Amino acid sequence: MSHLFPNYARDEIDLVDGSGSYVFDQNGTKYLDFMSGIAVSNLGHHNPQVMQALAEQASKIWHSSNLYTNNLQELVAEKLTMGKDYLAFFCNSGTEANEAAIKLARKATGRSKILSFEHSFHGRTYGALSATGQPALQAGFFPIVAGFEYLPYNQLEPLKQQLDENVAAVMLEVIQGEGGIIPADKKWLQAVAKLCKENGSLLIIDEIQTGMGRTGTFFAFEAYQIEPDIITLAKALANGIPVGAMLGKKELADSFGPGSHGTTFGGNNLAMSVADTVVSEINQPEFLAAVTEKGNYLMEELTKVTEASEKAVAIRGKGLMLGIELNSAETLQQTIQDLKAEKLLAIKAGINVLRLLPPLTISQEELAAGVEIIRSVLLG
Ligand SMILES: Cc1ncc(COP(=O)(O)O)c(C=O)c1O
Repeated sequence: MSHLFPNYARDEIDLVDGSGSYVFDQNGTKYLDFMSGIAVSNLGHHNPQVMQALAEQASKIWHSSNLYTNNLQELVAEKLTMGKDYLAFFCNSGTEANEAAIKLARKATGRSKILSFEHSFHGRTYGALSATGQPALQAGFFPIVAGFEYLPYNQLEPLKQQLDENVAAVMLEVIQGEGGIIPADKKWLQAVAKLCKENGSLLIIDEIQTGMGRTGTFFAFEAYQIEPDIITLAKALANGIPVGAMLGKKELADSFGPGSHGTTFGGNNLAMSVADTVVSEINQPEFLAAVTEKGNYLMEELTKVTEASEKAVAIRGKGLMLGIELNSAETLQQTIQDLKAEKLLAIKAGINVLRLLPPLTISQEELAAGVEIIRSVLLG
């Protein structure tokens, strides 16, 4: 009998080891990892640079306190802000990064309303859950935080109607991940950014799943030529060591003065030493170009499979964040099980979307092997 709350529908495999793009279960069965712990292990498993950074810091201090100067945080913040006018706040998870973003937006603007989108996912704590436009996830947990409204994604008119002087922020994912791998339309997102600016509302971009090179640029929003006021990150930031970050424009600094917000663990030395290495590894033109190249290959090959398969309806996404929409939720469940039987792990998004998130370090041979397995399952 399990001693755990049944809040996860867990598969029976227990992944006890990993190496590069492969993971191993408790019986020693080897799987090709096409989910990366839900976009966390972007540098693969047992990455030598990450292991070294962790081991070096583990032999020094793991945790000091945010009551003291932390040069490792300064180092990571400098790398994440990339010479632009942003400051960083570090926490432990995606939901906490979004909590910080919501609090900062309300305090800085003195306004209360936050507009987010249907099918969005921003986390499970009350603020982030309140921003999440999925009624099923909020059911039973009312009252949620007041002041959140959900609009249709990729539609401008409803946003124009709601964007008034009470709106502190508009919050969105550039590609909705949990919601079903739904990319933002470029013109729409650029218009949203412009409207926010005109209205004095902040634009919060949730890069928790799309960031850290996943779509072929360090942040997914870079491909849209917009400048968010606030950016949130987590998941792959330390390749599996829990950490989150909120980046915000420098002019918002006064709203997060001493005592305004905080966390015990956030940005501790162990997490920051790993994050420093991860950011340096990913944020290199050659690395990001390779992600784009691999993503294009995967999209090209799987488009052919999607077109030929009776089970598949459409394919969407960018870089190494792809979703194949299947013809039903049942087909999706069966497909995930069939892929697992063929030793490939992939997960669901939305109701009927097969989500593919291989490590960004995956080799061409491993990608091709994955394509073959997906082809055999979807055309079988
Ligand atoms: C876009 C997005 N935002 C926020 C979160 C919440 O992150 P965490 O689970 O680390 O709290 C997730 C997690 O899946 C996510 O995909």
